[in-house]
Amino acid sequence: MDSDQIRRTFLDYFVQRGHRLIPSASLVPHGDPTLLFTSAGMVPFKPYFMGLADPPAPRLTSIQKCFRTSDVDAVGDASHLTFFEMLGNFSVGDYFKSEAVGFAWELCTKVVGFPADRFWATVYTEDDEAFELWRRQGVPASRILRYGEAEGNFWTMGETGPCGPCSELHYDFGPQPGCPQCARDACHPAVECGRFLELWNLVFMTYYQAEDGSRTPLPKKNIDTGAGLERWAVVLQGKETVYETDLFAPVIAEVERQTGRRYQEDEATTRAIRVVAEHARAAAFLIADGVMPSNEGRGYVLRRVLRRAVYFLSRLHHGHGAGSMLERIAAAVIDVMGAAYPDLADRGGFVLRVLAHEEEKFAQTLERGAELLDQMVEEERAGGSDLLPGDRVFLLHDTFGLPRELTAELARERGLRIDDAGFEREMAAQRERARAATKFEFEEERLRAYRELAHIRTRFLGYERLTAETTVAGLIGPSGVADSAEAGEDVELVLLETPFYAEGGGQVGDTGWIASPTGRVRIQDTQAAAEGLVVHRGRVEEGWIAVNDVVTASVDGEKRLATMRNHTATHLLHAALRRVLGTHVRQAGSLVAPDRLRFDFTHIGGVKAEELREVQRLVNEKIRQDVEVGWRYAPYQQAVEEGAMALFGEKYGDEVRVVEVCEPEADACFSRELCGGTHCLRTGQIGLFLIVSEGSIGSGLRRIEALTGAAAEEYVVAQAHTLRSLADRLSVPVDEVERRVASLLEEVESQRRRIQALEREVGRREVESLVASAERLDGAAVLAARVAATSFEAMREMGDLLRDRLKSAVVVLAAAFGDRPNFLAMVTPDLTGRVHAGDLVKQVAAVTGGGGGGRPDMAQAGGKDISRLDEALGLARTLARERLSSPKQD
Ligand code: SER
Repeated sequence: MDSDQIRRTFLDYFVQRGHRLIPSASLVPHGDPTLLFTSAGMVPFKPYFMGLADPPAPRLTSIQKCFRTSDVDAVGDASHLTFFEMLGNFSVGDYFKSEAVGFAWELCTKVVGFPADRFWATVYTEDDEAFELWRRQGVPASRILRYGEAEGNFWTMGETGPCGPCSELHYDFGPQPGCPQCARDACHPAVECGRFLELWNLVFMTYYQAEDGSRTPLPKKNIDTGAGLERWAVVLQGKETVYETDLFAPVIAEVERQTGRRYQEDEATTRAIRVVAEHARAAAFLIADGVMPSNEGRGYVLRRVLRRAVYFLSRLHHGHGAGSMLERIAAAVIDVMGAAYPDLADRGGFVLRVLAHEEEKFAQTLERGAELLDQMVEEERAGGSDLLPGDRVFLLHDTFGLPRELTAELARERGLRIDDAGFEREMAAQRERARAATKFEFEEERLRAYRELAHIRTRFLGYERLTAETTVAGLIGPSGVADSAEAGEDVELVLLETPFYAEGGGQVGDTGWIASPTGRVRIQDTQAAAEGLVVHRGRVEEGWIAVNDVVTASVDGEKRLATMRNHTATHLLHAALRRVLGTHVRQAGSLVAPDRLRFDFTHIGGVKAEELREVQRLVNEKIRQDVEVGWRYAPYQQAVEEGAMALFGEKYGDEVRVVEVCEPEADACFSRELCGGTHCLRTGQIGLFLIVSEGSIGSGLRRIEALTGAAAEEYVVAQAHTLRSLADRLSVPVDEVERRVASLLEEVESQRRRIQALEREVGRREVESLVASAERLDGAAVLAARVAATSFEAMREMGDLLRDRLKSAVVVLAAAFGDRPNFLAMVTPDLTGRVHAGDLVKQVAAVTGGGGGGRPDMAQAGGKDISRLDEALGLARTLARERLSSPKQD
């Protein structure tokens, strides 16, 4: 099974068993300051397990992108990854142990076809029930082990969070050579000799762990399972490590291509190639999810991973090639993963730019940092110490961007340890300085302020009005809860009542002004900071504002009305999709902003152009009918029985708000949804609805982006204008533009083919004259020459032709890419015993201040000083002659 088949098989199995398919959330957890990254499939569902929000369905399934920082330094071995995909099924108070075990066993052994007799199960020490359940599936009692917390059979999220005993399925590859336990037939999954691979973890999530370590029961008994896609791929594709599976093989090949080295050439090379591939993949995903390299928090983790990749690249390939290697490796990652994660593909251009930039910056600092480190090492040694002090490590980190872990590695190679505690002290001092400078940025302080104000309940007036006279009930200033704030300061205001809508249900928070007799605050966003606590975020622009001030709160009406058009249009779109594509269509997420709307929905397969047109036509028809948009409150149960759609991510109380668009005379409603958002009074206010894009965002999930009102009008006008000027430039009427462009493209293509043929001819002629100029030594040809190529690819092509023509030869080609010299060495197999292409090219490139290396038969290198290129070629000739005349070694 290829990895995409594994993804599909897993999701299909659980969807068929009543699970709602939930798209992967971002690697950056939304609204959870206790977590740096999404590290497991259950992370986005934490509020459901804790009883803080109702899940969209009691049974859920997902493939979640995960990132774990704990293993960064272990990457490079056979199994540790920072980024991985977790397959999972979840029950929020629905089924429990027996179904979870039954599903896992059936899927593994009957559907996917793992051989049943390869499985071992583990259960939590006292979990007799789980033991019995595996036994009933046919797992022999001798292969069901009882493990305690120390062996990891009690799963916790971290310090705090939902947790519970767990049960794991392990795959047995058979006894391993060199393992004493295997030899004694006493091996088991906790031994870690490589014999066992954990394929699935089933967590019986029953407790909440508080900061003090105490555990209290959760409101319901839940199931949280996680299976590593990469591990399944290893077993199902019969590979030894994940790097040989289809998830990584093309990336590894690209690293080989870029560095001229071979995977499994030797242990150190294999490890370095793996690190580069793994980190390039993880970094691409992090950047696509909005993380940017920096010196703190998430950004630092990304920077660390990136810099490790660049460092290992520099070990694999000395000297500079043309452009960014990391960029091309990440492009291979996007090729492999882009179909499953279209967001990654969409943001590919941006991701690659960030990577190239960071690589370039770091390659420069790495050189200077390493020099400085050498100096420091010398100084310490001279002083008789084998410890690099913390302030030195910090200097390298802070000024030269050398991550601590990398400094440790480099220092170790030079025989020194680093002072970790001293470094931590320096870091803490720096954090304190940063904190004093940017106070308000600090999440913890903010959370403390919200807790202090949590008793305030703001009444929402925004369904009926856009302005209100009210009173400031609480204020958070730059350093926490305060009485007042003045011009230039960032504030969060809490009001007794508000017309401002707080972000929720996909609709963005309102913007506008809050004015008191003494000052004015521009509000840039409105958020529900905690249950019922609405904060208006903005900056005091004039005078000052204080608690108990009577203020006028005015929402930016134009933006809000535009948002309302998009929200009502979203409901019409949802209803129209269900009519055209079928009632399996479900909202999976949405964004309702003033300038656009985005709607994600479940649907297997593509959407045809005519289906999309029909959806758009239906929505616009409803707009023209100018139907009233009604809303009322109803008991949750009643609303759902009436067919109101309940949406993903929404939290519903007993009383819910129902928004409906019903034809006045017909009984049936076109749209009926549970929704707390703000809407047009009549559909006619939407004006015009235009779909601007539609596409896949993951298996079974699609996304539509659309415009309404003035934005739709502007779009049409701009498109018409473009078309008009295109027609003018092509000197044809608008309706002939398409035909004219098609014929131009044909012309371009035939020109391109002609140029290619010409170039090839020129290359062949150059090769001919090179062949003629080759020197003959004892039947072997020696050729060292400068050629006109502008890429390694073109050089390799010439090298191939030369090899074919010369049969037995040592060839060194040099070419300038821009102002940098580059070299390619090629040795025919009969001569590699005497001349090693990698060694040869390394010495030759060194003349121009560069380096490189590679295989015995083919290698490439880059240099710096173009003025010494001829000298380098001279050396190539001398070396080749010398070695060819030395006796053959076998
Ligand atoms: N949360 C558990 C894990 O991460 C199972 O999904 O292993």
